[in-house]
Amino acid sequence: MSIAKAYDVAYVRFRAPDLEMMHSFLRDFGMLEAYFDGERLFMRGHGNNPYVHVTERSPDPGFAALGIWVNSEEELRNLAAHDNATVEDIAAPGGGKIVRLEDPDGFVVEVVAGQERAEPIETTRREEWNQGGRYPRTGLLRRVKQGPSHVERLGHVVLGVSNFRRSEVWYKERFGLVTSDEIRPAPEVAIGAFMRCDRGDQPCDHHTIFLLERPAPAGFMHAAYEVADLDDLMTGHEHLKKTGYAHQWGIGRHYLGSQIFDYWKDPWGNEIEHWTDGDRLIAADGGGVGSIPELMGVQWGMPMPPLTDGEASS
Ligand SMILES: [Fe+2]
Repeated sequence: MSIAKAYDVAYVRFRAPDLEMMHSFLRDFGMLEAYFDGERLFMRGHGNNPYVHVTERSPDPGFAALGIWVNSEEELRNLAAHDNATVEDIAAPGGGKIVRLEDPDGFVVEVVAGQERAEPIETTRREEWNQGGRYPRTGLLRRVKQGPSHVERLGHVVLGVSNFRRSEVWYKERFGLVTSDEIRPAPEVAIGAFMRCDRGDQPCDHHTIFLLERPAPAGFMHAAYEVADLDDLMTGHEHLKKTGYAHQWGIGRHYLGSQIFDYWKDPWGNEIEHWTDGDRLIAADGGGVGSIPELMGVQWGMPMPPLTDGEASS
């Protein structure tokens, strides 16, 4: 039994010297402003989460924290007692309570419960898709509005860690994560795992947190945001390209998790992903083993660019 159960990743928090530049990038990426006081920028998606990306003004840009939701304030108190941490109020949209932990590599993990949900913002892209032999969109013309994607929510976060087994124990003990695919370059060697939340018989994404031991120092790898659908991902790609942002990898379809993906970089080089149509699993679906070719390959689309600093995606 774990101390608490993660429900999902909540947000990523960064430091950056120019919040107006981050604001512009995230608007072009498909988020909306939730709150901005000049020193802290909270951006939301179109779903019911109060925010999914936070930036604090700082001369020292970089990754600051990962936010994880647990199911209750009681779980939050249990985590605080276990790690000798304190439960604090959150002074941000949605309120709620927070406990700040530090993982074995020094990543700050902000555990959150009791937030008020935001009102979802309707996107208009909910029509069915015609497929060979199945035509639910009859009499409806497809006209895709041009512009940024519509980010729905944060789906997963990838961290490069110095010792996979040590980090795996730390996260599973606290958050009850379930392995969907363990990455084994050889039968007895595990270097990482795609892990999902244990929601019992309620489905969740194939992966919520991916830990990967790699030659480079421990560090943030990417945060991945779900968009409305394939049209939304493609029009968002065109919008980011026209606006002149740095593209990283995509468009393609992963093996492990099966998402259609598109990777970009924010103005400080932090990798950020759009994805759609990922696998959904329940706890009883269990897990398997993923190979390096499955980790780095694509079912279709652009091959992974050459690695420059020991990084990998998914
Ligand atoms: Fe990803």
